[in-house]
Order: sequence, then structure tokens, then C-alpha cells
Amino acid sequence: MAVSFPNGLSHPQLLVLLADGRLRSGEWLAKELDVSRAAVWKGVGRLRALGIDVQALPRRGYRLASPVELLDGRRIGAELKAGRKAQLRKLELLFETDSTNSRLLAQAPPPPGLADVCSSELQHAGRGRRGRRWIAPFGAGLALSAAWTFGEGAATLAALSLGVGVAVARALGRAGAAGVMLKWPNDIWFEDRKMGGVLIELKAEAGGSAHVVIGLGLNVVLTAAARREIEAGGAPVASVADACSAAPSRNLVAGAILDELLGMLGEFERQGFAAFRDAWMALDALSGRRARVVLGSSVISGTARGVDAEGALLLETAEGMQRFVSGEASLRAIEGDT
Ligand code: BTN
Repeated sequence: MAVSFPNGLSHPQLLVLLADGRLRSGEWLAKELDVSRAAVWKGVGRLRALGIDVQALPRRGYRLASPVELLDGRRIGAELKAGRKAQLRKLELLFETDSTNSRLLAQAPPPPGLADVCSSELQHAGRGRRGRRWIAPFGAGLALSAAWTFGEGAATLAALSLGVGVAVARALGRAGAAGVMLKWPNDIWFEDRKMGGVLIELKAEAGGSAHVVIGLGLNVVLTAAARREIEAGGAPVASVADACSAAPSRNLVAGAILDELLGMLGEFERQGFAAFRDAWMALDALSGRRARVVLGSSVISGTARGVDAEGALLLETAEGMQRFVSGEASLRAIEGDT
């Protein structure tokens, strides 16, 4: 099915005019938008209320505190190989929403073999794993979700998040990032810091088919303020920019991820995790390192030994090899160990 790529016009036009970070006079903005200068001022207030840092310079005009590359369907679409475009039923680029995962979960699922994809500049209620919030300051990251229906006989989905991780790491390599790794089961990892995470939600299983929504949150380019905002909630984080020699393009990153994700979904449907296990093991950030697994109230220490054919974590402990399935266990490197 053909897909048309919106060109980003769903964004407030005032933001589009300010996106390059240049100083624009109130008069110029009013003329471009065909509104009064008071309306421009109101628009600035609305952007600020959304957490977008618009600076007002007395008698000179307005500018964004830092330029931003807004999501652009044409630029994202340019990264998709021909066959992959045909797998895309819908690509929705939004300015704001509560959560891209919630939005897709509320819609009718696509038929097997096709994906519905949604990405938004802002999420008011971005959701992480284990009931946590996902914080992504404006312009700093990528919030992208894909709805997909696995047909009858679909391979086990327990390891799907690992396949998603492989697709994301491959895409980031395409976008110029080096050294991106994965941390079992759902994290995109760089130099022992979290760069992104995957939240997979299963909507329904009827007659053997499984409808999933795969959500990816990724830090792409973090200003000092954005980094502070995210890190206020926990540990130091990484961004795609940290792994690149030149500033990465958000649209290129989004397009490459979408392309690799669509390719991965088709292959996962046919072959399951078997097609991705070797690639995942090569990207495993904790392989061979001392680690601890938290399982309810118990903590088990050992050496991380990758994953088995089902994507379960293998931990070599004093009592022998132990196996943990995702959803139940969480994994931490033991500090000071390399
Ligand atoms: C994690 O906790 O590491 C997973 C974070 C997943 C966040 C993404 S952002 C796009 C999608 N929409 C959401 O509400 N959550 C996921």
C-alpha cells in the first residue's frame, strides 16, 4: 500500500519559522504568518508553555535557545528502501500527543505484513518500562512507535525487544554512530550509559495472531539543559551525538531506524530470534562482565554470558548457569568491573 509522507506542516507554523535558531523580528513573523504581533506573542507563550525555550530579545525579536531539526516525512521516507516503503501502511508525524504507544494501541491494528508508525515531537505522558515516565525534552530525542500484527504461527515474541535492539544499533551505525551496544533486555547503550529504551506492548491475541506496539525512545542530541532534565531522574545518560563525530540528523536517524525496524519485523516473523541472536551477542554490552540480576526481592550475582535461543539472559553463578526471562528480571553491571 502506498504511503504519503506529511511534510511536517502539522507543526505550529511559528515553530517552523523559528526552527533554524535565527533571530526573527516580531514584525517579520507576523507578516509571514499573516497575523498581528500580539498573536505572535501569544504563540510564543503557547510554545513556552509546552517547555520550548523561545527567547525574546527586546526590540529585536525571537529565537529558539537552540536550533531544532523538526521531523520531516520526506526526509524520513528518503531513508527507506523500496520494499520497506511497501510495508508501511501509515506514517503519522505529530507535534504533540500523550504517548505514541498509547495512540497506536487505541487504533485498529494493521493487517499482518504492514506497519502503522507514529512519531511525535512532544509526548505529554511518555511511558517507560515498569511504569516509569519517559522524559524527552523538545527536539532532543526521538519518540517512535510501530504497530505490527504477527500472523498465525508467529515465533515466540519474548525476544522481540532484542531484535528491535539489533535493528536500532544497525540503524545508528548507518547514521554515523560508532560503539552503540545493547543491554539486556531493552536498552540501547553507549559507554555504560543509557541512550534509549524499548517498550513493547501486546494488545491482543486472537486466533493465534498477536498485535504488538513497539515503542522506542532515543536521546539523539542533548543540550546541557535537556541532559540535566533527563538525568534529574536517575543515572547519567548518553545520546546518539555522543557516539558520532558530527551532529546526527534526527530525520536520518528516524528514517534509518524505521527502515531497519521494518526489515527486522519481516525477518522476525519468518525466522524468529534465531536470525538475530549472533548479532545481539556481538552487541551485548555486559558479555563476560560481572553483573547482578534483580528478581523480585532477590539479587543474584554472576558473570553475564549473553542470551539463549529464546532471548533469555544467561548468568554464570557459583551455583551454575542460571537463566532469566525478560519482564521478570532486571540486570545491572557490578560497579568497577569492566
Ligand atoms: C524504557 O523504559 O527504557 C522504554 C522507554 C520507551 C519510550 C518510548 S517513547 C515512544 C513510545 N511511547 C511511549 O509512551 N513510550 C515509548
